[in-house]
Amino acid sequence: MVTRTVDLRSDTVTKPTEAMRAAMACADVDDDVLGADPTAQRFEEEIARIMGKEVALFVPSGTMGNLISVLVHCDVRGSEVILGDNSHIHIYENGGISTIGGVHPKTVKNNPDGTMDIDQIEAAIRNPDGALYYPTTRLICLENTHANCGGKCISVDYTDKVGELARKHDLKLHIDGARIFNASVALGVPVHRLVQAADSVSVCLSKGLGAPVGSVIVGNKDFITKAKRLRKTLGGGMRQVGILCAAAFVALQDNVAKLADDHKKAKIFADGLKEVKQLSVDASSVETNMVFFDINEGSLLSPGSLCQALEKFGVLAMPVSSTSVRVVIHHQISESDIYYALTCIKQAVQEIILPNGTAK
Ligand SMILES: Cc1ncc(COP(=O)(O)O)c(C=O)c1O
Repeated sequence: MVTRTVDLRSDTVTKPTEAMRAAMACADVDDDVLGADPTAQRFEEEIARIMGKEVALFVPSGTMGNLISVLVHCDVRGSEVILGDNSHIHIYENGGISTIGGVHPKTVKNNPDGTMDIDQIEAAIRNPDGALYYPTTRLICLENTHANCGGKCISVDYTDKVGELARKHDLKLHIDGARIFNASVALGVPVHRLVQAADSVSVCLSKGLGAPVGSVIVGNKDFITKAKRLRKTLGGGMRQVGILCAAAFVALQDNVAKLADDHKKAKIFADGLKEVKQLSVDASSVETNMVFFDINEGSLLSPGSLCQALEKFGVLAMPVSSTSVRVVIHHQISESDIYYALTCIKQAVQEIILPNGTAK
């Protein structure tokens, strides 16, 4: 019988800590839709300060944070947003910017490091002379860290350059910063500096930071005033939301400092995987808390069979394509969990591939 669970599917799986539960239990709350929740207000002020933006707004999820941000920047019919073809907004958010917001996506290829070539972004900006035919480019979106590119960090230099380009063409820049604190820690750049060029940022509190629920968007007063209205439209106005903000406060205070440890453990994990000859991993590409690894061609494993076999040991990982598996480290994964998971992977591979070279 398995007695140990090592959940590496995502950094969204964390459970609230005792400190979070205690803070939630005694949070001072009121009706936030009426603008009266003191804990929400304190939290929003603090995160706006940390992010170096005028105002912040707590929202239920990263998806809603991105949707609201894109819709605020693209509030005129016929608007277009430039974003990465491998970005979370484009792939995993139900096409909400189009289906709900009527915003047209113009994708630019994401490089393996999560960036888009600046000249390709510039080439994607619509020529205003074609206004009769073309949608109007209003926004560029970046994602930092870039989840589908393995949790890669987008540098401050690159972000500044995209910001300059946006200003040159009178566009806005939004950052899907679901894991911006991971990027800030890994790059050694204060988070406010990393997002300085952005008009808005959406930050997930329930990923690496470990809060149970919520995201926050930051920007200037005008942006947040419009965002607040849209949040209500989308059903994201919550009443005694200070309960959630209290946990997020603890997450900010206690867990940012732990992210460097998560990144170190991700490296240990990736290095350990190199010993399994049926798998391949580029350990040097691990920059933050994510490790993507491939099943070697010709091996009798598949991501599905490996993850299924691992489940029997209580180790949970996520198949992400027909050849690769994703593992995400978070603050509730210890170094001993990492070594346990590596041992289980070796054992699972042996169990699937029989000594005579055939698969079970
Ligand atoms: C990069 C990125 N952006 C946005 C989101 C959406 O966040 P949520 O799951 O809170 O809607 C995710 C979720 O995994 C993500 O990885």
